[in-house]
Amino acid sequence: MEEKIMFDNPNIGILGLGHVGLPTALGLADIGWNVIGADDLKSKAQDIANGDAPFYEPGLSEMLIKNINSGRFSVASSVEEAIDASDVIFVCVGTPQNDDGSADLSQIENAGRTIAQNSNTNKLVVEKSTTPVSTSLRIKDTLRRYAKENVEFEVAVNPEFLREGTGLYDFFNPDRIVLGVESEAAKNTLLQIYLPLLAQTNPSDISDKEIYEAKSNDKFVITDVNTAELIKHASNSFLATKISFINLVADICEKSGSDVSKVAKGMGLDPRIGSSFLQAGLGFGGYCLPKDIKAFTKIGEDLGVDMSFFREVDNVNIRRVDQIIDKLKGKLWVLRDKTIAVWGIAFKPGTDDIRESPAMALIEKLIEEEVKLNLHDPKAMEEFKRTSLSEYSNIEYFTDPIDSSNNVDAIIIATDWPEFKSVDYKNIKDAMQYPFVLDARNLLNPVEMLDIGFDYIGVGRYS
Ligand code: UDX
Repeated sequence: MEEKIMFDNPNIGILGLGHVGLPTALGLADIGWNVIGADDLKSKAQDIANGDAPFYEPGLSEMLIKNINSGRFSVASSVEEAIDASDVIFVCVGTPQNDDGSADLSQIENAGRTIAQNSNTNKLVVEKSTTPVSTSLRIKDTLRRYAKENVEFEVAVNPEFLREGTGLYDFFNPDRIVLGVESEAAKNTLLQIYLPLLAQTNPSDISDKEIYEAKSNDKFVITDVNTAELIKHASNSFLATKISFINLVADICEKSGSDVSKVAKGMGLDPRIGSSFLQAGLGFGGYCLPKDIKAFTKIGEDLGVDMSFFREVDNVNIRRVDQIIDKLKGKLWVLRDKTIAVWGIAFKPGTDDIRESPAMALIEKLIEEEVKLNLHDPKAMEEFKRTSLSEYSNIEYFTDPIDSSNNVDAIIIATDWPEFKSVDYKNIKDAMQYPFVLDARNLLNPVEMLDIGFDYIGVGRYS
């Protein structure tokens, strides 16, 4: 007869302590589990063990120190040690992009093989990284192929939906918890792990009855493993689609003298549409949406589905940056030797992450045009300085956006940091060579900007 639960009070291992793994590890520790994390990058693991968060995320440093001090979170000195100490292992390693757009699953394969080769007891291996449909079945094959004698594995899929910049909030306030499982025992083990999050229960007090009842909690979506993988890819592709959709509507607004922010408001009040992810601008970036839509397109094509719809969602997004450059040229004509202040480098506010940031793509194009760049970002400047774009000789960095606007020909708002709203624009206007603000994120109020005397252009309004 099948076991009712695989592990009662499991020790939890987290492989990969990045933007997904670290908040997940700390969240699970904070709700009462014993969690051991590991990362292949030794220096990063060491920093985390010392209480230094490796990236900016609101509340992350405090949460790290709190859970190291409580003794519930620790960092293993090797991946093997973390595997040995755990019953349930969440795989949170990276799934970067191959040149053809497909997901590079070599870190996932490596994690599966390493788990198999170093496990002396049975384990539940939970795929948390975003992966194309059927990846967990490949992990299962790998685990079987390299397993030691008498050691058994199960796989499960538990995709992560947390957003950067609100990662911890999202962990503690999930809209849904998707559990792709192959057995009752795996399902019950994962329900047990997540129960303290929903029921304010201590892990040691969870009863069988509570686990049984948790199944009917509508936060849990319990599926087979393939469906769980698809939920994640389809969700991110849908979010990307919403953004490209509203950006195309913005283009129509510009040509017809309408206002996209009002169109978005009018559409979004319909609960079937919803108001989120209808902010027109420079397009979507980050480590997830651009990569996931490409990987979803590729896996669909590999399976013989015509994915041209999703390909176009990506193409619309890529064109956003060129459109902003065209608007800048439309105003300033030749860009060479003009001084442009760019506010915002991060792919969105609340993070120092610049991966696939539309602002980075914009900066690259401005460099190609040989402008003088005045750069400001509240959090991401150090990250920028580590990239090859920082080798361009004509860049100045400013910690204060006001200072960055001295004698510039234009300010471009490339990331919608809320602090850019409360800057003293009257002062800025007088300091600029020419008072032109190109608001690529529709952050500011156009009427107020025109009242102050700016030449102001947003996206899909007042062109
Ligand atoms: C995304 C998903 O939201 C999250 O569920 C998943 O787990 C990881 O991928 P994240 O990458 O943190 O999260 O960023 P998100 O908040 O989704 O924003 C992505 C990009 O879209 C940003 O560049 C943002 O500026 C842009 N965006 C978002 C818009 O251009 N318009 C919008 O209306 C919303």
